[in-house]
Amino acid sequence: MLRTPSLTLLACATILLLPACSDDGGGTGASQGGSSSDGTSAGSTTAPGTDSDATTNPSTTSPTTDPTTTNSTTTDPTGASTGPAPFCGDGAVDAGEECDDGNDVDTDFCLNTCKKAVCGDSVVQAVVEECDDGNMDNTDACVDGCKNATCGDGFVGPGEGCDDGNMVDNDGCSNTCASASCGDGKVDAGEECDDGNMVDTDACLTTCKNAVCGDGKVQAGKETCDDGNMVDTDACVGMCVAAKCGDGFVQAGVEECDDANMVDNDVCSNACKMASCADKVKNGAETDVDCGGNTCAPCEIAKVCKVNADCQSDTCTNGKCASGLMLPACQDNMAVTATNVFMSVVSVKCAPCHTGVGQSGGLNMKDAATLKANTVGVASTNAAIPRVTASNLDNSFLIYKILGQQLKAPGGGGSSMPLGGSLTMAEQCTVINWVKFGAK
Ligand code: HEC
Repeated sequence: MLRTPSLTLLACATILLLPACSDDGGGTGASQGGSSSDGTSAGSTTAPGTDSDATTNPSTTSPTTDPTTTNSTTTDPTGASTGPAPFCGDGAVDAGEECDDGNDVDTDFCLNTCKKAVCGDSVVQAVVEECDDGNMDNTDACVDGCKNATCGDGFVGPGEGCDDGNMVDNDGCSNTCASASCGDGKVDAGEECDDGNMVDTDACLTTCKNAVCGDGKVQAGKETCDDGNMVDTDACVGMCVAAKCGDGFVQAGVEECDDANMVDNDVCSNACKMASCADKVKNGAETDVDCGGNTCAPCEIAKVCKVNADCQSDTCTNGKCASGLMLPACQDNMAVTATNVFMSVVSVKCAPCHTGVGQSGGLNMKDAATLKANTVGVASTNAAIPRVTASNLDNSFLIYKILGQQLKAPGGGGSSMPLGGSLTMAEQCTVINWVKFGAK
């Protein structure tokens, strides 16, 4: 051999595992398979530190080669041979040991502390345990029985909203262990519905309650409004319908009435306004426009009536207000003038109350001109019609007065004239002909 050992090592390192190198190396125990087969010689002659002794040849480990036992036997002060002291790992279950499998494998049934492996000892026992975190906390990743936490184990573990341990998907806890929540599309306990959307105008509210009238949400296609209350006098009535005239509900501040019919001229109009005596419409109990009935003032002559009380004249004839004036059978005389009336009637029968300084009833008729001026077309103090309306006896209060029928005149009152006296029929006819033929 020309090469030195150092050169040989260098060369072997360079040309790895070549057979030539192995053969030349010599002395390295690892490759000396042949020598280990000789059990007896190896045990007694090779260096004590080699592991192969203890494991491959148990019979030779006794007294002479084991460092521990060698010490105990040789250092015993008494010199008596007491045998090896028991220890954990000696393969024998000694006092105070639950087990002793003689190995240093901590994951088998017997721990290196010579206690039996149990769930909760913090050591994961191979095959038997999936985990062992040494605690009793079932909300962590390792739960009772030393199993890894999973959805369905009945324990709410990390990342789970719930875990009811069953395979019912639509109960309070889904099979994914996500917390049952409104909006997950499944009808869970406590939910009336769950359509999985955030739309509040469909049949299922975002609160997972069925849409109903009164929930404050307007359901498309079914409700025109929903104010969440049961008040029928506001803008949203009944079964969630927008208030409108004709629905039978009187909307406060908007409608005066609502009779839910399409009769415009009854007490409540189609515009939901109460009939009034000034709306220029014949409605309500009126017998004619804004008059008659028991609510409005009596009607003028010729207006429609039902009973006498509907008329100012207190005379309802054939459905029309007629004059109640009953005239004497006068002979027509178109030539009567104010002068004739003054000369033959007023100056004789009406003095002094309506002549001179007297102005009874606010009426002065001191001469023909004044008589005419203060009566024709002049409003009465004591009636709703003028004192005299030319060519219209029915509309002349003066005529009613001299015939003692003043109470039949529209709005008429007071006494018959002349007060305390009377006119002959001829005198009455003079006044009647004057008015009847133009009050000239
Ligand atoms: C004794 C007094 C007296 C005599 C006479 C008299 N009157 Fe009168 N007259 C009155 C008094 C008082 C009133 C007011 C009270 C009333 O209307 O009854 C009145 C009212 C009237 C009125 C109503 C006026 C109005 O505007 O309401 C007429 C019309 C009238 N008299 C016409 C006559 C005529 C026509 C005569 C004559 C034929 C006459 N009177 C005679 C006292 C008299």
